[in-house]
Amino acid sequence: MVAHFIELPLGKNLPPYTTTTNIKALLLVLTVMIFLLLIPLYLVRNSSPPWLSAKGNAMSIKYGKKCNIFRGKWLQHHNIAPYYTNATCREIFDQQNCMKFGRPDTEFLKWRWKPDECELPLFDAVQFLELVKGKSMAFVGDSLGRNQMQSLLCLLASVGYPIDVSYTKDPRFKRWLYVGYNFTLANFWSPHLVNAIDTDPNGPTYNRLMNLYLDESNHDWAAQIEAFNYVIFSAGRWFFGPQMFYENGQLVGCHACLNNNIKNLTMLYGYRKAFRTAFRTLIGLKKFRGMTILRTLSPAHFENGEWDRGGSCARTRPVGNSEMKLDGADLELYMTQG
Ligand SMILES: *[C@@H]1O[C@H](CO)[C@@H](O)[C@H](O)[C@H]1NC(C)=O
Ligand SMILES: *[C@@H]1O[C@H](CO)[C@@H](O)[C@H](O)[C@H]1NC(C)=O
Ligand SMILES: *[C@@H]1O[C@H](CO)[C@@H](O)[C@H](O)[C@H]1NC(C)=O
Repeated sequence: MVAHFIELPLGKNLPPYTTTTNIKALLLVLTVMIFLLLIPLYLVRNSSPPWLSAKGNAMSIKYGKKCNIFRGKWLQHHNIAPYYTNATCREIFDQQNCMKFGRPDTEFLKWRWKPDECELPLFDAVQFLELVKGKSMAFVGDSLGRNQMQSLLCLLASVGYPIDVSYTKDPRFKRWLYVGYNFTLANFWSPHLVNAIDTDPNGPTYNRLMNLYLDESNHDWAAQIEAFNYVIFSAGRWFFGPQMFYENGQLVGCHACLNNNIKNLTMLYGYRKAFRTAFRTLIGLKKFRGMTILRTLSPAHFENGEWDRGGSCARTRPVGNSEMKLDGADLELYMTQG
């Protein structure tokens, strides 16, 4: 299987948050659930983040029996209003706002994740903010991480919006502060995690040759991450493109560069090294005391073909358990992360 995902990078020649797809709103909603899945992950690992050990909803999980929250299914959920809609959250950008542009169905808003062995509690925005008081959380990586951050903003919108405390006007690096709670939320755009130089910034966005410096974490996040309490890495789909791999400043090979004089390496080669480098950077930071979360592979935005070759994103319901197989390149990427 060849990658059928292309995401437009937020390059010079593109407005911020440009995407070609309408499914972003659906993704945004689904990522609410994904985000919720992140929370009880720690249960399984025996090191609870604060929002699990507090009183309230989370208790029902904490004192319940052990539960693998990753095994389960999506259930239709009609009784409870969605956590947010395009009308209740102003952080849904036009490119993600399918409803505003005429999407007729709303059923995609009404699903919940049901682990086989337990129930997930509903998200409680006030409780969440109480628990992360004085803490900071960073999403580092690609657009799914960014979506998850936006989703969290929307989840918390019932309490209020944070103020923008970004240190740059560049929308790829957002930083928000929930003043009453002194909770900082940040997003660092770095889809390769390591230093990546675009060899042709004005070329076609989906197929540009990137120079990846596999042993150098991208300074944009690495220089600022030390103080964060929670760091969530997201990377995957961007590694499918043509890439030159550098280590110690030397070209060591390439992926899909179509050059007979350069050693062919697989995309997994770069992928594995990029993660190692990112984790090594965190471990090497003396004052870093945070918790690191790795988001595993996400589905491509498009199905049944690449975005420009008949692929579509017409999905109206979550993927069923038997509907999609983790195979081919996706399986390889997933295994590489483990
Ligand atoms: C939200 O979606 C509805 C259609 O369901 C649309 O009429 C409305 O303009 C949208 N509101 C915003 C703020 O995007
Ligand atoms: C807010 O939280 C940060 C850590 O995220 C801490 O360094 C700072 O002292 C806190 N400020 C106040 C006023 O509590
Ligand atoms: C690398 O692979 C490409 C495509 O499979 C092939 O055309 C090229 O000759 C290979 N390069 C080397 C140095 O083996």
